[in-house]
Amino acid sequence: MDRGLLFVVTMVMGCLAPGVSGNGHLTFANNTKVNITRTGCGLKKLCVETPEQCDPTGKTSCLFASIVTTAPSPPNGVDLLVELRGDSSGYIALGLTANETEGTSMVFICAQNSSVSFFFRSAQRNNLNNTISLTQRIVKNITSSVNGTVIQCEFNVPAVNATTRTSHITFVTFLAVGNVTNGMGIGDINIRLTSKLLNLAQPNSNVATTTAPTTAGSSALTSQAVLVLLSVLTYHLS
Ligand SMILES: *[C@@H]1O[C@H](CO)[C@@H](O)[C@H](O)[C@H]1NC(C)=O
Ligand SMILES: *[C@@H]1O[C@H](CO)[C@@H](O)[C@H](O)[C@H]1NC(C)=O
Ligand SMILES: *[C@@H]1O[C@H](CO)[C@@H](O)[C@H](O)[C@H]1NC(C)=O
Ligand SMILES: *[C@@H]1O[C@H](CO)[C@@H](O)[C@H](O)[C@H]1NC(C)=O
Ligand SMILES: *[C@@H]1O[C@H](CO)[C@@H](O)[C@H](O)[C@H]1NC(C)=O
Ligand SMILES: *[C@@H]1O[C@H](CO)[C@@H](O)[C@H](O)[C@H]1NC(C)=O
Ligand SMILES: *[C@@H]1O[C@H](CO)[C@@H](O)[C@H](O)[C@H]1NC(C)=O
Ligand SMILES: *[C@@H]1O[C@H](CO)[C@@H](O)[C@H](O)[C@H]1NC(C)=O
Ligand SMILES: *[C@@H]1O[C@H](CO)[C@@H](O)[C@H](O)[C@H]1NC(C)=O
Repeated sequence: MDRGLLFVVTMVMGCLAPGVSGNGHLTFANNTKVNITRTGCGLKKLCVETPEQCDPTGKTSCLFASIVTTAPSPPNGVDLLVELRGDSSGYIALGLTANETEGTSMVFICAQNSSVSFFFRSAQRNNLNNTISLTQRIVKNITSSVNGTVIQCEFNVPAVNATTRTSHITFVTFLAVGNVTNGMGIGDINIRLTSKLLNLAQPNSNVATTTAPTTAGSSALTSQAVLVLLSVLTYHLS
C-alpha cells in the first residue's frame, strides 16, 4: 500500500470521528465532499488564483479562492462565502487587507496535519513585518476535504468590514501557503499572489478573471471579444 493510499484511508477514518467545534483559534471540520470549480467565476463569484486561470479541479497545482458576498448591508459589513483550494502538505490561506504594506490583514487558514487531517485557523498578519498571530474571528460553516496535498475548504465569514475610504467591501486579497509546525502551529506565511483592491461584492471586479472565460462560456465570450475588436477596427477604418 503506498503512502498516498494510506493517507486516503486515514482521511476516511478521520471522517468517522465527529467534528469538534473550535476553541476560538482552532476549528476541526468533518471531511465532506467539497467540489470547488471555476463555474461562475466573474459572474457569480469573484475568483483569484495562481497560476493565472488555473483549474481547481485539474491535475496541476492551482492556488484558488472564490468569494461571494451575501447579505450586503454596508456600512455594517457583509457576510462572505469563501472557497479556497490549493496544494500544500501544510496550509493554504486567504488574506484580506486594505493595504498590503501597512496595518494588518485578516487571514483564513485551511490546514492539514497528517494525524488530524484538517483544521482551520483564523489569524492576523502584521503587514509591516509579515508575521502572523492567531485571532478569534468567528468563521462559520466550515467544510473541508483533503486528498494528499490537495486541500479544499469552504467557510462563511460574517460581518466583514473594511475601513478604507472607498468602500466597506473593498479589499486587497492575497493567497498564501505555509508549513504546519509543532502539530498544529502555523509556520511562516508565503504569499504567492496579491491582487489589486477588489470590490468583493462585484464578481467581475477582478479584470483578469472577467476577460478570461470559463470553459463553458468561452466560445460566447470569445465571439463577443471578436465582435468588439471588429467594431473597433471598423470604427478606425471608417
Ligand atoms: C461533524 O459531524 C458530526 C456527526 O455528523 C456532527 O455532530 C458535528 O456537528 C459535525 N461537526 C462539524 C464541525 O461540522
Ligand atoms: C462539481 O461541480 C461541477 C459544477 O458544479 C459539476 O459539473 C461536477 O460534476 C461536480 N463534480 C463532482 C465530482 O461532484
Ligand atoms: C464599518 O466601518 C465603518 C467605517 O469604518 C463604520 O462606520 C461602521 O460602523 C462599521 N460597521 C461595523 C459593523 O463595524
Ligand atoms: C498603502 O500604504 C503605503 C505605505 O503606507 C502607501 O504608500 C500607499 O499609498 C498605500 N496604498 C493605498 C492604495 O492606500
Ligand atoms: C512585528 O510587528 C509587531 C507589531 O509592530 C510586533 O509586535 C512584532 O514583535 C513584530 N515581529 C517581528 C518578528 O519583528
Ligand atoms: C485523490 O486524488 C487522487 C489523485 O488525483 C484521485 O485519483 C482520487 O480519486 C482522489 N480521491 C478522492 C477521495 O477524491
Ligand atoms: C451557515 O449555513 C446555514 C445553512 O446553510 C445558513 O443558513 C447560514 O446562513 C450560514 N451561516 C453563515 C454565517 O453564512
Ligand atoms: C516548509 O518546510 C520546508 C522544510 O523545512 C521548507 O523547505 C519549505 O520551504 C517550507 N515551505 C514553506 C511554504 O514555508
Ligand atoms: C498533528 O497534531 C497532533 C495534535 O496536536 C499532534 O499530536 C501531531 O504530532 C501532529 N502531527 C504532525 C505530523 O505534526
